[in-house]
Amino acid sequence: MKAVILAGGTGERFWPLSTVDTPKQFLKLFSQKTLLRETFERLSYKLPVEDILVVTNERYAERTYEELPELPLSNILLEPARKNTAAACVYATLKIEDGENVLVVPADHYIPEAEKFWECVELGQSVLDKFDGIVTFGIVPTRPETGYGYIEVGEFVTDGVYVAKKFHEKPTYDVALDYLESGNFFWNSGMFMWKKEYFLSQMKKHAPDVLHPFLECEDVRDAFSIVPSISIDYALMEKADKIFMVKANFIWSDVGNWKSLQEIGIGSTEPSVLLEAENVFVRTTKPTIVLGVSDIIVVETENGILIADRKDLEKIREALKRLG
Ligand code: GDD
Ligand code: MG
Repeated sequence: MKAVILAGGTGERFWPLSTVDTPKQFLKLFSQKTLLRETFERLSYKLPVEDILVVTNERYAERTYEELPELPLSNILLEPARKNTAAACVYATLKIEDGENVLVVPADHYIPEAEKFWECVELGQSVLDKFDGIVTFGIVPTRPETGYGYIEVGEFVTDGVYVAKKFHEKPTYDVALDYLESGNFFWNSGMFMWKKEYFLSQMKKHAPDVLHPFLECEDVRDAFSIVPSISIDYALMEKADKIFMVKANFIWSDVGNWKSLQEIGIGSTEPSVLLEAENVFVRTTKPTIVLGVSDIIVVETENGILIADRKDLEKIREALKRLG
């Protein structure tokens, strides 16, 4: 098996810690290691480093080399343009030998239990040994989240494995609420497994505009200049012929913003004193007192200071644009 880490995303939602030059995968959110490093170590827990590939944007090349010095340089695939995850998945899968199983994982998730993560991956591998299809990893939903894909489960295959009836990427709030109440839907954790040949045949059928540039252009720069920008979820998962879902039995969070870090219960700094203040997240370089205000996020780094009501965190992008 080969593993591919998708590490080319941007992220402003962790401002003032993250900046355009330091997206989420390069942040040290819950330990002294960056999220990319944590992801790499979760994979190298069972895989030889030669079997791990990282796909990232050219502008993050240096940072990626520094983070993963033991990775052969040729295992770091550089994208000359940001064209979202469908292009990254095709680019990486084409580099992998025929007949291999490919595990694709995001670079920036919180999955603290490597052993349990691997139990699920091995279950996924056993599915691919028997059937043609794409394996996804489903998380039991706890809220009507509109930022995730949802997997609608069908037939039971074996313990912890189901056929997915359908994949629905990022529903509206009302639809997400219906999904949550029905009990038949799981969150897509953003990790996928496929056999190289099955994936390519499915891309050929459902997203030929993403596959063809990589087959036809000799220079990867040309391929990236014409390939459409679309996520793998919209390009393929919503249309794929056969999807399986392994029910994830590990702790998982995609740590979307400061609020989700607070929910996991890590990443805050001491000393801070809260007086008549509840539900406050503080991450500062100096001792901090929060007095008489609740439900806020306070973050201070050398790049700036964020003081936000928890419920308004989504507006951070808009606010950043105004900051210039
Ligand atoms: N190489 C590369 N190139 N990586 C990319 C690119 C790109 O152009 N764009 C995004 N990525 C990386 C990100 O760094 C992240 O690790 C991963 O791909 C997923 O991209 P996101 O942009 O974070 O996707 P999302 O969170 O909106 O949605 C996906 O993840 C959810 C779970 O967190 C989907 O798969 C959803 O269905 C899923 O629920
Ligand atoms: Mg994400």
